[in-house]
Amino acid sequence: MANLDEISARGLVLLGCGKMGSAMLAGWLAQGVPASAVHVIDPAPSDWLQVTGVALNGPLPAQPAVLLVAVKPQMMAEALPGAARFGGGPTLVISVAAGTPLAVFEAAFGPGTPVIRAMPNTPAAIGRGITAILGNAAATAGHLDLAEALLRAVGQVVRLQGEGQMDAVTAVSGSGPAYVFHLIETLAAAGEAEGLPPDLAMALAKATVGGAGQLAEDAPEDPAQLRRNVTSPGGTTQAALEVLMDADTGFPALMRRAVAAAAERGRELGRG
Ligand SMILES: NC(=O)c1ccc[n+]([C@@H]2O[C@H](COP(=O)([O-])OP(=O)(O)OC[C@H]3O[C@@H](n4cnc5c(N)ncnc54)[C@H](OP(=O)(O)O)[C@@H]3O)[C@@H](O)[C@H]2O)c1
Repeated sequence: MANLDEISARGLVLLGCGKMGSAMLAGWLAQGVPASAVHVIDPAPSDWLQVTGVALNGPLPAQPAVLLVAVKPQMMAEALPGAARFGGGPTLVISVAAGTPLAVFEAAFGPGTPVIRAMPNTPAAIGRGITAILGNAAATAGHLDLAEALLRAVGQVVRLQGEGQMDAVTAVSGSGPAYVFHLIETLAAAGEAEGLPPDLAMALAKATVGGAGQLAEDAPEDPAQLRRNVTSPGGTTQAALEVLMDADTGFPALMRRAVAAAAERGRELGRG
């Protein structure tokens, strides 16, 4: 498994430092990557970024270990040409842009450029993200290890077998935090409808989803068993689950449709 020494030695260029770029940068700095090894290109650096000590919009190393692209997909056409000189050599290109296929980077950086596409999610901001990664043909095991070491700074990392999995991953973990936020909103609203004050309903909903999520990650039992553990026959939980688990109108059908819609939108965006 690679560590981040290569970054300290050869440098990293971060193209775009908004929400996701800042979350990753905070993780690298916390893990001991020297600020002087990180070179950021961003037209409107945040106040936080300006006091990190990273090199900002200045001269760039000729052959950094990594060029990490974290601009919005719609800014890609504008941002990539200026970075094309990093292609075709020893620099690994990593992109966290949703929906932008490996082929776009291969075209921009030229043949033989190692490229890794990564799909993180917003809990990266608190080091609790999960990122799926996939390399092109030029990306070696060492490149994948280096990308994994970088992305571990903001949470877990999983590896994909093929780019065909990326739309489904995006639909589950990339967009998934929004589904959970909506679950919190609707659980709190339902509590209000049962007579709770809004603040109390929201506090209960947030802590319930956060705590249950943590329990699902930490417990040896799978989520289905954890659910059965809190469901006494004929009790209150069972009454709710009979509504939520209804095959036609409950979560199973609804989640299937929601994830399918997200994956289909990803396929559409990928086609350009
Ligand atoms: N946020 C997420 O949860 C998440 C999850 C998965 C993947 N991603 C991916 O991460 C990428 C960044 O998302 P984000 O939420 O961090 O967006 P963001 O906050 O808008 O950050 C993008 C940054 O890039 C800068 N930028 C724009 N054009 C540039 C250029 N030509 N050269 C250099 N920098 C430029 C932007 O500056 P201005 O603000 O001045 O335009 C901004 O600071 C996206 O591709 C997105 O698909 C994000």
